[in-house]
Amino acid sequence: MKRVFSGVQPTGNIHLGNYLGALKQFVELQEENECIYCIVDMHAITVPQDPKALREHILDVAALYLAVGVDPKKSIVFVQSDVPGHAELSWILTCCSHTGELSRMTQFKSKSQNKESAPTGLFTYPVLMAADILLYDTDIVPVGVDQTQHIELCRDLAIRVNNTRKKTFIVPEGRYLKEGARIMALDDPSKKMSKSAENVHSRISLLDDEAKIKKSIMKATTDSDGVVKFDAENKPGISNLLNIYSVLSGMSVEELEKKYEGKGYGDFKKDLVQVTVDALKPIKARYEEIRHSEELLEILRDGAKRAGEISEKTMKRVKENFGLGF
Ligand code: AMP
Ligand code: TRP
Repeated sequence: MKRVFSGVQPTGNIHLGNYLGALKQFVELQEENECIYCIVDMHAITVPQDPKALREHILDVAALYLAVGVDPKKSIVFVQSDVPGHAELSWILTCCSHTGELSRMTQFKSKSQNKESAPTGLFTYPVLMAADILLYDTDIVPVGVDQTQHIELCRDLAIRVNNTRKKTFIVPEGRYLKEGARIMALDDPSKKMSKSAENVHSRISLLDDEAKIKKSIMKATTDSDGVVKFDAENKPGISNLLNIYSVLSGMSVEELEKKYEGKGYGDFKKDLVQVTVDALKPIKARYEEIRHSEELLEILRDGAKRAGEISEKTMKRVKENFGLGF
């Protein structure tokens, strides 16, 4: 059995991009692997957070994990800050990383907007992510393609430590879906769909109601030639919608192109609204059921305990190999 680890930040607005790029894989992988899914609250505080809202968002993400089908009997679900090994290993890995490689991270560059001074947490964010992964001897990391560079850094750090000390870490691999790996913003298909974009119609959140879904899809940017055809370069808007339609419905892009031959974007979008509403309905229902339950808190407590036990074994080995502690 392979070990799988992934995480999502509790920063609100979990959207179709998160679902199709990451969460859907979480569910598929738990059938044949040992999966650990984390709510990475310590990554969230790399930018200022309101403490009350953060606590709520942690539970939102936990409930959404379960609502999309993560099964706590098969997988471990827990909150990052409940397991001290993440911060501990992060420091050790910080001491193995270089400012040069961290400065090259595109997420850091865009979040710090190339300012001369930026929050240190944003800078070392990828090292904490590497710690998350290596702490569990992870083989596979299911993520969206926007995380490729971070996964590469994690691999580099693991290889570096293994080469300069005793073999300490498993070198993990990223797992990206072909479709859904990168869902673009509905209002601007040159940008990825994101939790933080100001325009709420740029994304479809998993908990959006039917009216909102309809409005966002009907308003989505397309092009003026009116032909439903996949061409990511010249027709990025409709290609993004085709991608979403395809993953949600299970129909291939070619099948969809055929289905909408001779029809306009209006018909296509109307059907996509229905497909999206139908796909999100059961998720929303399960979410409502569990979000304020005692069961959810128990799952997180149990998850932290199980994750803690695994992480302690790794930390013992790491400390030994680094000559730390007694
Ligand atoms: P984040 O929202 O940054 O915590 O991301 C959680 C997971 O969703 C990560 O695996 C990301 O790679 C993935 N993800 C975020 N945005 C998108 C997107 N627009 N398309 C596909 N995957 C995404
Ligand atoms: N950086 C990831 C994101 O923004 C979230 C994350 C943190 C993560 N730690 C992780 C993903 C470990 C996979 C594995 O999407």
